[in-house]
Amino acid sequence: MRGAGAAFFVFLWFKTSTYFFVMSEIKCIGILTSGGDAPGMNAAIRAVTRSAIFSGFKVMGIYRGYKGLITDEIVEFSTANVSNIIQRGGTILKTARCKEFQTPEGRQLAYDTLRSHGIDALVVIGGDGSLTGARIFANEFNFPIIGLPGTIDNDLYGTDHTIGYDTALNTIMECVDKIRDTATSHERLFFVEVMGRDAGFLALNGAIAAGAEAAIIPEISTQTDQLAELIQNGFRKSKNSSIVLVAESPVTGGAMGIAKRVEEEYPAYDVRVSILGHLQRGGSPTACDRILASRMGAAAIDALLDDQRNVMIGIKNDEIVYVPFSKAIKNDKPINQELLNTLRRLSI
Ligand code: F6P
Repeated sequence: MRGAGAAFFVFLWFKTSTYFFVMSEIKCIGILTSGGDAPGMNAAIRAVTRSAIFSGFKVMGIYRGYKGLITDEIVEFSTANVSNIIQRGGTILKTARCKEFQTPEGRQLAYDTLRSHGIDALVVIGGDGSLTGARIFANEFNFPIIGLPGTIDNDLYGTDHTIGYDTALNTIMECVDKIRDTATSHERLFFVEVMGRDAGFLALNGAIAAGAEAAIIPEISTQTDQLAELIQNGFRKSKNSSIVLVAESPVTGGAMGIAKRVEEEYPAYDVRVSILGHLQRGGSPTACDRILASRMGAAAIDALLDDQRNVMIGIKNDEIVYVPFSKAIKNDKPINQELLNTLRRLSI
């Protein structure tokens, strides 16, 4: 009986102290998704909303990213607003790339809207550009923001993976498996372009997962002519068909740029191009992305309770980490040399 009484007292103390903290500091959290959508964003919205409500916060859903802060598209979220969304691709909050938020006037409007709704902290789910906006806004108005890395590109420093990356990788693998059927039947050389902006994670790991012959990635193409190297190394000697994954890049011109060069410089090859495009951003998130998004969403609320400000939630070696915005967006995430070597060795 005494044990149960003490436990009840501890429970009450815990509840009231959490409540007191919430009441005295942050009461209402806004959540938005921004930039390119990524599978798992909905799982993150769900996790942020439910963890916040669990801890006694009020939650406001902000539609269309930073644009919704300027045009005042904000609704209160209950746990029911995020029911039945964990399995859905895209983002129920919609997303946008907002030019106005890049101006001081636009950000002032956004701040005024936040204050008018009593929102005193933000969780921003997005990629590089979105977290850059978050950093500027947080510094300008001394406003608490927690970022979640939501992009298929996996190009944010300080986290092993970003939300959406695993699903996009699986989509790429399935597409390349299909392309391989026709590549083999026609004995062709295929250049398959994948997304990644200036990062080669999707191309490199997609190539390993699909058993492709090579990957041409922006991190390397500034130093070496990867195409010339491939051809000179006789990468097709023992094969009739080959698949090369090419990351989109202004340096190489992407798959079209590479294919044009092959037609001009190595006309013996029967070349075809497939650009996977936006289908890489859609679809139901994989278990890995749902779990990643759920953990990161819950960690965003822990971070606010922990008095953390202006950090991105990352997961490194399976542990939650807080990465200052300045580090997450400014540092280039390096490509693992071991992956490049593995691909090379397995493509003989
Ligand atoms: O940032 C994610 C990303 O998928 C990039 O890889 C790509 O360059 C970009 O978005 C394309 O975005 P959109 O066509 O939607 O502007």
